Amino acid sequence: MNKKAAITGGSRGIGRGIVRRLAKDGYDISFTYSSERGKVQAEALVKEIKEQYQVKCFAHQAALNEKGEAEKFVQKAYYELEGLDLLVCNAGQSLVNSIYEMDEKTIDFLINLDFRSYLMAAREAGRIMGENKIKGNIIFISSCRGIRAYPYDELYGGLKAGLIRSIQTFALDLAPYGIRANCISPGPIRVRTSEEMREEGVCEQEIEDLDNLWKQLPLERMGTPEDIANAVSFIASDQASYITGANLVIDGAASLPGIPENRPKDDEEFKVWCNFKRRW
Ligand SMILES: NC(=O)c1ccc[n+]([C@@H]2O[C@H](COP(=O)([O-])OP(=O)(O)OC[C@H]3O[C@@H](n4cnc5c(N)ncnc54)[C@H](OP(=O)(O)O)[C@@H]3O)[C@@H](O)[C@H]2O)c1
Repeated sequence: MNKKAAITGGSRGIGRGIVRRLAKDGYDISFTYSSERGKVQAEALVKEIKEQYQVKCFAHQAALNEKGEAEKFVQKAYYELEGLDLLVCNAGQSLVNSIYEMDEKTIDFLINLDFRSYLMAAREAGRIMGENKIKGNIIFISSCRGIRAYPYDELYGGLKAGLIRSIQTFALDLAPYGIRANCISPGPIRVRTSEEMREEGVCEQEIEDLDNLWKQLPLERMGTPEDIANAVSFIASDQASYITGANLVIDGAASLPGIPENRPKDDEEFKVWCNFKRRW
């Protein structure tokens, strides 16, 4: 019988890479998307997965920033897949912005999506796996911003750090049931082409910055969704059966020297090495 995996935010980016890889590994899949655009991408992915890998594949709309939605998705996945061996919490928004420039609504949105939904989904999956004696896996997709400080990411970086810390306790609490819980922390991953970014209304400066970012990275390339998906596949496999409570950083060493992820600006207000801006 195929193993069963639930993935949040599987419609595109890193999540889509994870869906594809797990389907290739022979998992039946249930994943989420949130937007109208995501619906189109999700439907195309379901079709691709069913045709290419002959596994079950379901997609569900879920606004995971809303209370109750994460748990509901995990329950739905468990019933429709008739089991749950793996939960990958990935859906999130990389809102890297100074907290001084965020309104409270955005702050609450990010806390609920990038932190709360992970914990609630993992809590539900742990309960289901424990009650049903499934020696399953839970994986959080965090970020290398969770392991060291960068300017302008009090909230995003803080939430990602919280996930890395929280998974350690999930690992302890669920270990007696044979359930493993781990984090994967990606560095800069190219999830959109320049053209796709343009279509989404991203400004030319930002696109140019991203196009040139690889030059500043130790391995001199951006990461890909496949880089992260390969790690998910390994962590969920029996080859990793003694790995739990770990955080696997996959960033091509980007976070080691602490180099800025953004190109230094010429603007006098920015100090060159890390884009510090005088606010007052
Ligand atoms: N890309 C990177 O460089 C990078 C680096 C480190 C960590 N990460 C982390 O990796 C994860 C995936 O990032 P990504 O770059 O692959 O993002 P992405 O391409 O923008 O995809 C995000 C996924 O999350 C879903 N999503 C967005 N808002 C949601 C909401 N309110 N409720 C439910 N689902 C929602 C999206 O669905 P729709 O498309 O339908 O909205 C999509 O499926 C995130 O947790 C991110 O923080 C990314």
